[in-house]
Amino acid sequence: MKILFISSEVAPFSKTGGLGDVAGALPAALAALGHDVKVVTPRYRDVKEARRLSPTGHSLQLRFPFGEQQGPILSARLSERLEVLFLENAAFYGDRHGLYGDAFGEFGDNARRFAYLSVGALQAAQRLGFVPDIVHANDWQTGLVPVALRRGFQATALARAKSVFTIHNLAYQGLFSKHVMEDLGLPWELFTADGGLEFHDTVNLLKGGLVFADALTTVSPTYAREIQTPEQGYGLDGLLRHRAHRLTGILNGIDTHEWNPVTDPYLPARYSARELDGKDRCKRELLARFGLPWSDAPVFGIVSRLAWQKGVDLLLEALPVALQADLRFVAVGSGEAPLEDGLRALQARFPQQVAIHLGFDTALSHLVEAGSDFFLMPSRYEPCGLNQMYSLRYGTVPVVRATGGLVDTVEGGLGGNGILFEAFHKAALVAAFRRALALYADPPRLTEFRRRGMDKDFSWDASASRYVALYQSLVSG
Ligand code: ADP
Ligand code: GLC
Repeated sequence: MKILFISSEVAPFSKTGGLGDVAGALPAALAALGHDVKVVTPRYRDVKEARRLSPTGHSLQLRFPFGEQQGPILSARLSERLEVLFLENAAFYGDRHGLYGDAFGEFGDNARRFAYLSVGALQAAQRLGFVPDIVHANDWQTGLVPVALRRGFQATALARAKSVFTIHNLAYQGLFSKHVMEDLGLPWELFTADGGLEFHDTVNLLKGGLVFADALTTVSPTYAREIQTPEQGYGLDGLLRHRAHRLTGILNGIDTHEWNPVTDPYLPARYSARELDGKDRCKRELLARFGLPWSDAPVFGIVSRLAWQKGVDLLLEALPVALQADLRFVAVGSGEAPLEDGLRALQARFPQQVAIHLGFDTALSHLVEAGSDFFLMPSRYEPCGLNQMYSLRYGTVPVVRATGGLVDTVEGGLGGNGILFEAFHKAALVAAFRRALALYADPPRLTEFRRRGMDKDFSWDASASRYVALYQSLVSG
């Protein structure tokens, strides 16, 4: 099959979170299964590994009511069957830092920027003579893809393509003032609650994807159920229940080459499930890098966007209690100012036990995964979550809230590989810390937990085959 995959971030070129990881790894897994894949994404100013990009000789020309937009299409060929196409546009991507916003908040022209990506991706396929069987869009930034496919390209060769829309996070919907309808040239007849983009008198780009795509997926089976409830549906649960027969949960995989403790170049020592010694060297290096004195006490780590979703506020409530025990806490993250301030204050109060690094740092994220004894994810909700899978693979026991993809990947109980807690409540998290400390105090049992996690297969193979089966069912009608 020919698959056009569209994402606002693609690792290793651009990434703010798990979407980038998935858009980097899933297309590669599909190509490895023998399919022809083109990924389309913006050419941001700060794109990494820019030297791998070369011109295609093609460019886009799009006419919107707000003005005519054009820009070249660049390419990075990653393998025989996999190419990433980058849409270059100075006004939208090239002249600024950041993917979605900056210190002042979200960019004011995001509707235009991602309309350019969504419509531009379809035009890029045309320009390159790529006639896809499947057009696969992801999250609100590409919500207009299924809309444009049905409403703008219906008279072109692309019309026969089936569309898949994946929800990585239902809480981010791309909400804009209704004037955006005219600005982008969307017909007012689409501004309806039933079968349209309207949502409480605003334009909801995510909803465009949910309404117009031929199939919907989300990134874990548990989250697929949760988003059909009012508690987790963010106002769209009714629509999702209505389309439930079109919605499947397919668990994310992880890139097992990038995340492999046996070969990881970011680590001072490497290790495996059978030969765990190197993990101790990683712990020493981690403590040293964070300026904490060496100690045999357990280390709890997080690597996270500092956002409401992630329950960092709950962690900040529970840690002053948990830190009465002899444990260390290290954090790598960036995001909302009150959470950054909270972490700074915690470090100031417990300088011998707590150390933080505010910022985005891939090398350090690998060291935290390897050097920590426990990895914390007290999420309010978690569509899938990748860090808990990285942790399991690195023999670092995940301590997670029982929600979304965390339930589908971490096994609690005596013969499990991690620690789960239910209530989003300080006492429940403090109790989870206690269970972790008890496990740490029992080294043979701890080693068993670690090995069970490391032995699990989280590679993309199984999940990519599920996407292929879905694509095939759409193509054969
Ligand atoms: P989400 O997509 O909701 O942020 P995931 O667990 O799916 O959550 O993916 C997060 C990804 O982003 C992981 O690869 C994680 O290591 C990475 N990440 C998040 N924050 C940072 C950071 N500050 N530095 C380095 N990597 C980070
Ligand atoms: C989102 C979710 C996260 C998921 C990632 C990749 O950012 O918050 O849980 O793992 O997308 O699908």
